Amino acid sequence: MNTPFLDINNISKTFGGVRALTNVSLSIESGEIHGLCGENGAGKSTLIKVLGGSVRPETGSVTINGQPLPLGSVPASEEAGIAIIHQESAAFPHLDTYDNVFVGREIRRFGGVVLDRARMKTETATLLARLEQRFDPRTPVGDLQPAQRQMVAIARALSRNCRLMVMDEPTASLSTRETGVLFRIIRQLKADGVSVIYVSHRLEEVFELADRVTVLRDGRKVDTVPTNAIDRAGLIRLMVGRDVSDARTREPSVRAGVVLDVDGLTRADAFTGISFQVRAGEVVALTGLVGAGRSEVARAIFGVDGRDSGTVTVNGRTLIPADIQAAVQAGIALVPEDRQRSGLAAPMSVKANLSLAVLKSLARVGIISDAKEDALAVSMMNRMAIKAENTEVAAETLSGGNQQKVVLGKWLAASPRVLILDEPTRGIDVGAKAEVYDLIGKLADGGTAILLISSELPEVLRLSDRIIVMRSGRISGELPREEATQERILSLAMPEGAA
Ligand SMILES: Nc1ncnc2c1ncn2[C@@H]1O[C@H](COP(=O)(O)OP(=O)(O)OP(=O)(O)O)[C@@H](O)[C@H]1O
Ligand SMILES: [Mg+2]
Repeated sequence: MNTPFLDINNISKTFGGVRALTNVSLSIESGEIHGLCGENGAGKSTLIKVLGGSVRPETGSVTINGQPLPLGSVPASEEAGIAIIHQESAAFPHLDTYDNVFVGREIRRFGGVVLDRARMKTETATLLARLEQRFDPRTPVGDLQPAQRQMVAIARALSRNCRLMVMDEPTASLSTRETGVLFRIIRQLKADGVSVIYVSHRLEEVFELADRVTVLRDGRKVDTVPTNAIDRAGLIRLMVGRDVSDARTREPSVRAGVVLDVDGLTRADAFTGISFQVRAGEVVALTGLVGAGRSEVARAIFGVDGRDSGTVTVNGRTLIPADIQAAVQAGIALVPEDRQRSGLAAPMSVKANLSLAVLKSLARVGIISDAKEDALAVSMMNRMAIKAENTEVAAETLSGGNQQKVVLGKWLAASPRVLILDEPTRGIDVGAKAEVYDLIGKLADGGTAILLISSELPEVLRLSDRIIVMRSGRISGELPREEATQERILSLAMPEGAA
């Protein structure tokens, strides 16, 4: 028998008492695109970190073309031609783009004494052009959008001529157009004989790209199957070990009173003349292509950014611009798009994170009792199936999707008057998504006014009462739920003349 290109043998890894991987074996051919699926906390990222050398397993071995890979060494993995695009973008935020692309392998002149900045810049520009990116490579990476940071990481991998590209949820922050670019790049890599491991909760992407798919559950391999031998329902069953009922739409619960009133909101270079209202119990979706200005509108409403003109009113009270405190006092909560950076107190416990937003209301009742805080954390963990050993562990030790659930759970527990959700189910597995939808529905039933920013049209159609579409910083149309279809939303979202 031929030796496979990559052979992973009996890998096991525990973190403290948590078994993240148990005897996982898996092989991958050269030029194969291999999907890796499983629920939040199944062990996908850990397996990838083993391949990248940042996590050293207790047992097991990995060979590449029959050669043993020294485990637990990032340089050894890089040397072997493995490139990892991590789930939490591991870029260096203070460096600019071309330094990020070349960090650790800077091109030098004069026998290595002087950095050849000019060449690094032109090569970065060529790579970014290949990825169809148009931003200035001198921008500090910390100032880039999540999608752009992702592209920088991919440019870095491409510049190293890797033989195995491992992508951990690469499209989570990419627009449709950028996803198209990425898929073209992946297919090109495959044609060049490069192997790709592709982790995604978007199962349709796995079916579109992958030759075979491996499913992990609770740190163990369930099976590896060719993608043409299984369907979506079958894959979900392998992942969660049961059938997941698919989406019914929510019953409307709109009340009379306007809670959030946004009027003529304008911020130069971001959005212009944004006006809409959200009533108590109403879910209004703000949709459009990535870059249409949706998140910027959310940030201005919440007071993270200022505004040039226009007003934001909550229950008849006009908010002071650029004042988060005022927004919070008025009862607005924002679950931001970039949760790992701005939503999570990473070193604090899961419990503390879950109760952060509610501490005030718990305190109002009297002293914050530990028992109450515990009860809240435990009930939230159960409802959202947050996988953690207990409520005391640091939030940063949770898997990516479980961190998302903690941030979301914190705000869902707080029952704010206005809840702005920016891509609430990004990175969350199929089983937990249904639970998140249910919680959002319950909040609306309880009278919360909800502004939902989402690029996933099935989610928008399922949850919202009304759909506002943005295009290039302006509202391009509005559809009541009964009249909304994916096609109608897309035609309002696409640049004029492109549809
Ligand atoms: N540094 C760490 N310390 C403690 N536990 C960890 C650490 N890293 C991962 N774990 C645990 O290992 C398990 C597997 O996590 P992993 O990140 O591999 O899951 P995942 O399949 O990538 O999930 P997701 O879809 O949410 O990204 C989880 O229970 C997680 O809490
Ligand atoms: Mg992960």
